Amino acid sequence: MPKEALSILDERTHATYEIPIHNGAIRAMDLRQIKTGPDDFGLMTYDPAFMNTASCRSAITFIDGDKGILRYRGYPIEQLAERCTFLEVAYLILFGDLPTAPQLKEWVGQITHHTMIHETTKKFLEGFRYDAHPMGMLASTVAALSTAYPESRHVHDPELRRLQIMRLIGKMPTIAAYTYRHSLGYPYVYPDNELSYTENFMSMLWKMAEPKYAADPVLARALDILFILHADHEQNCSTNVMRSVGSSHADPYLATAAAAAALSGPLHGGANEEVLRMLDEIGSKDKVPAYMEKVKSGQLKLMGFGHRVYKNYDPRALIIKWAADKVFEVTGRSAKLDIALELERIALEDDYFVKRKLYPNVDFYSGIIYQAMGFRPDIFTVLFAIPRTVGWLAQWEEMLGDSEQKIARPRQVYTGQAVRDFMPLEKRGVEIATPVV
Ligand code: ACO
Repeated sequence: MPKEALSILDERTHATYEIPIHNGAIRAMDLRQIKTGPDDFGLMTYDPAFMNTASCRSAITFIDGDKGILRYRGYPIEQLAERCTFLEVAYLILFGDLPTAPQLKEWVGQITHHTMIHETTKKFLEGFRYDAHPMGMLASTVAALSTAYPESRHVHDPELRRLQIMRLIGKMPTIAAYTYRHSLGYPYVYPDNELSYTENFMSMLWKMAEPKYAADPVLARALDILFILHADHEQNCSTNVMRSVGSSHADPYLATAAAAAALSGPLHGGANEEVLRMLDEIGSKDKVPAYMEKVKSGQLKLMGFGHRVYKNYDPRALIIKWAADKVFEVTGRSAKLDIALELERIALEDDYFVKRKLYPNVDFYSGIIYQAMGFRPDIFTVLFAIPRTVGWLAQWEEMLGDSEQKIARPRQVYTGQAVRDFMPLEKRGVEIATPVV
């Protein structure tokens, strides 16, 4: 068997080094010994945007971006989406195994028990303007939960951690629904403990004067599947933020609020909203080729396309396409789907996209389903944040239990001025004659 090591020859000093390789990676700290002399700090790696840096070891989610594979705790996403409920998958992601029937019953009961939010948190929501973006309201309100549960700062207490995890998963849909009702000026609807996680969310969103909200079972199941697909995705931008903020031992509400803020950006979870805007802007199928020309000339990005990790079809997008058919049987087919299918058809054949391995990602079709189900585009990213909370929390717990993890603190390559003397205000901008020597 070949030796699992890397030999390095430093041409500056002609010294050689042997760096061990574990799990296909070298430890960046092993490079620090490579120095030109005793005053040299040692070699670092420069990797803006973490293009080739593993920041942790994780046993939660596996992705093979070249083959288009996604697994939670070893289970293929396709099987979980077909056979499980979202809360069952949440249990799997958080605790490592699928629950037994009694464990699932207890877990669902615990989450359901935590769906109410404190009345003061409800009042907090009142302070937002009617046109505030739901993601801004969500992130701020989740941060405000930190003030309602001060014990959450004891992040090394496993029981208290578990309590905050249940609270966050239980309360996310409630806060999300309230941001929506607030923007419409509608009264808030309290959680209904007899309904499933997604049915209860739909009730809090759309119940009006009827005594009990009856969700369409096909739409409730489609939403549950979408939640499963969005539950975790290893070290993406928002999860990296969750781990990074959590590494300072901030409480989980503040860390989740920070992760939600990262998710809101159009290059991450905010892309689903942008896809709908893009489809509206294109308007009809015949305008697609002209739009694609603008994308190829670099004037625009095709939103919902491309991924840092997937260089193949995002498996989640395939499942979403399948779920879309079920939803459209209830709601009627969306005209936007034809535009999206035409964009995809051209992209998959066009050299620009083929060469760069750009395929539809999870956000490309999700917005079309959400809109058909009755969601407004500005709440799409909130629909992403609800299930991703599970992944954020699982990754946060894993990070806290990892003895190798410390406060996240990258290095930099300094490119600024060398040392220079302070210049008093009155002398700045005045040309100083160079002394004649
Ligand atoms: N449309 C057109 N060209 C694209 C797109 C796109 N959507 N995505 C990437 N490219 C091009 C880039 O211009 C670049 O071309 P070049 O080599 O000629 O410069 C090449 O493909 C590589 O792209 P990068 O930006 O280097 O890839 P990176 O891994 O940094 O970015 C990202 C990934 C941010 C997802 C990018 O593909 C993108 O902006 N997509 C659109 C936004 C989007 O859909 N985001 C959701 C991602 S999924 C999620 O977060 C849930």
